[in-house]
Amino acid sequence: MDKILIRGGNPLTGSVRISGSKNAALPILFSSLLASGSSRYRRVPRLRDIDSTLGLLETLGVGVARNGPEVTLDTSGLERWEAPYDLVRKMRASVLVLGPLLARLGRARVSLPGGCAIGARPIDLHLKGMEALGAEIKLDHGYVTASAGRLRGAEFTFDRVTVTGTENVLMAAVLAEGRSVLRNAAREPEVTALAEVLNRMGARIRGAGTAEIVVEGVAGLHPVEAEIIPDRIETGTFLAAAAVTGGKVEIRDCEPRHVGAVIDKLRRAGAEIAVGERTISVCGPPRLKSVDVQTQPYPGFPTDMQAQFMALMSVADGVSVIAETIFENRFIHVSELSRMGADIVISGDTATVRGVRRLSGAPVMASDLRASACLVLAGLVAENTTLIHRVYHLDRGYEALEEKFSALGAEIRRVS
Ligand code: UD1
Repeated sequence: MDKILIRGGNPLTGSVRISGSKNAALPILFSSLLASGSSRYRRVPRLRDIDSTLGLLETLGVGVARNGPEVTLDTSGLERWEAPYDLVRKMRASVLVLGPLLARLGRARVSLPGGCAIGARPIDLHLKGMEALGAEIKLDHGYVTASAGRLRGAEFTFDRVTVTGTENVLMAAVLAEGRSVLRNAAREPEVTALAEVLNRMGARIRGAGTAEIVVEGVAGLHPVEAEIIPDRIETGTFLAAAAVTGGKVEIRDCEPRHVGAVIDKLRRAGAEIAVGERTISVCGPPRLKSVDVQTQPYPGFPTDMQAQFMALMSVADGVSVIAETIFENRFIHVSELSRMGADIVISGDTATVRGVRRLSGAPVMASDLRASACLVLAGLVAENTTLIHRVYHLDRGYEALEEKFSALGAEIRRVS
């Protein structure tokens, strides 16, 4: 299995272009199921989660053609409505077929995702939302089966903010009869991006990006051409990498408005950051200062940046308190950081990080996508070499990771 070898110590310099957003691409690719015909998507990142999505769409009878960052999906042959265990197991977001299949075919059968490395992550709110729209939901043999005639518009309040839950129920509501109002909806940019694509397909959605989304159901949608928005977590990861290595990096083709909370924390930690229309320039200080962080739904500090930020705080000057409010068990990277010499104590949902002067390179194990990114950042500033095992986690979510970091002057390579 591939590993990533990093020799730490180089400040990153130069410029890097951000890829299309994984978490925006996933629901948008699934939304193709809502119309019959050929839809084309640009700036689709080359990632394992995208391959899993395309593989799942193919098993449903969708014609998939890929040419670099461009993907064409022909849904005119859509004939199946089941997402089997083997595919859902590889990627939880496969559950996003549920809403579109239910809306378009009146039925869907999806394997239950089960637990995963970062907590239980149930899908009860997705299912309650579908039920509110008139679907009948059955759970048996590890599968959820949803069926309905035409869905009916309804008012539904999410008990807590869920990103894919909002996306799933939104995709079901666009073809429902009448008006739906989704309250306590997720405000993440990926939800807004999905709503924009759906509206271009003929849906009537307003309020996306706020906590209340109103959908006037329509009878049918048409195919679309769309470009995926820049990945805000990749953007944040490069910002963090530049800052912690004391480097100077220009981040291009990104959306600065989507990373406001991360920029704010990095500035407080002592990084100099200049924001342009589509670029961000960052200059890291000789040593960062500790700052406290609490993860929150958007526009707060993203949970998907918590692990990377912890790598920064582990070498910062002072003590940082990092609270994770979105997911339980999202501190699995702590034990690996500690093996590299970090001083971190966990109590419940809070990690107290006392910055040390240096981390020391070590063999470490990646446990999930963002935890892996945390270990890359730690490796970039550690003494000697760090060897990261289980790199497939990184391949789920970071396009051309080694190439991009190498181009910025990092000593990083993939070894088999
Ligand atoms: C999405 C992102 C993920 C990010 C997360 C939070 C995608 C593909 N993934 O995941 O990268 O870390 O948002 O920003 O976009 N919950 C329930 N019941 C549900 C659904 C969620 O209790 O039915 C809970 C979860 O366990 C979690 C919280 O709600 O504690 C938020 O999870 P959610 O926003 O749903 O995460 P995902 O959409 O899975």
